[in-house]
Amino acid sequence: MLKQDQFVTPLLAWYDKNKREMVWRDRENAYYTWISEIMLQQTRIEAAKDYFVRFTEELPDIRSLANVPQERLLKLWEGLGYYNRAKNLQKTAKILVEQYGAELPADYEKLLALPGIGPYTAGAIASIAYGIKVPAVDGNVLRVMMRYQASLEDISKISVRRRVEGELTDVMPERPGDFNQAMMEIGACVCIPNGAPHCEKCPLQQICLAYADGTQLQYPNKAKAKERTVEEKTILIIRDAELAALHKRPAKGLLAGMYEFPSMKGYHTAEEVKEYLAENGLQVLRIQPLEDAKHIFSHREWHMKGYLI
Ligand code: ADE
Ligand code: SF4
Repeated sequence: MLKQDQFVTPLLAWYDKNKREMVWRDRENAYYTWISEIMLQQTRIEAAKDYFVRFTEELPDIRSLANVPQERLLKLWEGLGYYNRAKNLQKTAKILVEQYGAELPADYEKLLALPGIGPYTAGAIASIAYGIKVPAVDGNVLRVMMRYQASLEDISKISVRRRVEGELTDVMPERPGDFNQAMMEIGACVCIPNGAPHCEKCPLQQICLAYADGTQLQYPNKAKAKERTVEEKTILIIRDAELAALHKRPAKGLLAGMYEFPSMKGYHTAEEVKEYLAENGLQVLRIQPLEDAKHIFSHREWHMKGYLI
């Protein structure tokens, strides 16, 4: 479906002329590619630069990352957020020292198996650092492709990303790292996310269906995140002298195996709570209401009333 000479050739020519300078770019160092790509998942290019320089000066290679005390690592990451990403970097560095001679493997599937490395990052490292012909599809690339194809498919679907990966694999040129970065760069600088894209500067303009229709802003289409379900609960803090009753949650599902205060589904009055406890063999001496509370998870919310008993 993609045309080699109308798509790949103009894109690479545009990249050669317009690519931005980046401290980690064109260094042929897989470690640099890895660190920069993880940083760029949460930070703009300009902001990531200083972090990258500081990080790689102190931790110049995989071995030093594997051996740095975690506290120091988190200090170098401070301000970037998503601290699990830093922890995963170190976890992976240790695996690389133990299993791969302190190198990132030049193999897409092996990269994908490492902690914190998903399809996008594995594709970026394999193509940019090792010249392997695999795509690296992030949100920028999906936006460009949906506009170029005037496709209203939902980009949050894995099937859509897979299809795009397949199409890009089919036209992958001899310079896979540059091709993938050209797609990212078009998405970041030309076919931009908020506001009108700069189609007048775009090497894909002549074949772009959204441009032809003037419908650029209709793409990409992304299903709205499902609303969270709200659960109402009554939390029971049942005290006896210094002790309080705890309940262990089931081994599967939300907060699996964790301890919590006992609770009842729905909202209940003090009288109802007393009745419920009496049915379970507990005599209540005193019961007093607690402040309402709310806890928000990714897919549900708990709205809670509570009693100190
Ligand atoms: N965004 C994330 N990685 C990038 C890269 N290598 N080039 C351009 N933009 C990017
Ligand atoms: Fe995006 Fe416009 Fe280029 Fe089409 S022509 S890919 S809409 S910048």
